[in-house]
Amino acid sequence: METLDTLMSRNSVPPKLLRDPAPDEATLQEILATAVRAPDHGAIMPWRFHIVRGDARARLAEIFVEALLKRDPDAPDSAVEKERNRTKFAPVVIVACTEVTTDHPNVPPVEQIVSTGAAVQNIMNAAHAKGYGSFLSTGKNARDPHVKQAFGLSDKDELVGFIYLGTPKPGLSGKPRPDAMEFCSEWTGAAVAAE
Ligand SMILES: Cc1cc2nc3c(=O)[nH]c(=O)nc-3n(C[C@H](O)[C@H](O)[C@H](O)COP(=O)(O)O)c2cc1C
Repeated sequence: METLDTLMSRNSVPPKLLRDPAPDEATLQEILATAVRAPDHGAIMPWRFHIVRGDARARLAEIFVEALLKRDPDAPDSAVEKERNRTKFAPVVIVACTEVTTDHPNVPPVEQIVSTGAAVQNIMNAAHAKGYGSFLSTGKNARDPHVKQAFGLSDKDELVGFIYLGTPKPGLSGKPRPDAMEFCSEWTGAAVAAE
């Protein structure tokens, strides 16, 4: 696919619409290689990616359940089941994290998190270019200390998101997109009025 065609045709594919086959090892590594092309102020390399597949997906789902029950011991069965099923469909989950350097003189944590976001987008576009679908999700799991601990993250670090990856169900159509120019304007030097 031409690069711009790839960028212009990507749509998120919800995890329930993802299935086997997963990218093979070589393709997955090609996809992941694009992550480290993200802009990285200060060459901090703050990104960490954990690849969860096979039986490890069920273990991740159990950690989601444990985290839910720590947050809410009375959580209804339906909520527990939702967590248990979260990793059931997509054959691969990539957990994208930022190991935050808090004391860098020029690069605040937000820039390191933005860099990880850019890496995530590269992964998603590369997956799409290779014919796979993906979906980025966060929710309470991404902020939960029990989940973060499973990935070696301390309080200062960020779990930026879970990228669900797999083969999209055939026949999906994307959502309508706005005209980009609605969000763009020529800045001519005068202060822009606050919205
Ligand atoms: C940082 C981030 C976190 C997100 N977390 C969730 C989430 O937890 N649950 C969800 O349904 N969508 C979440 N989304 C939205 C989806 O990933 C997706 O962008 C949305 O469904 C729109 O699809 P599109 O990417 O094709 O525009 C998140 C998006 C971003 C950028």
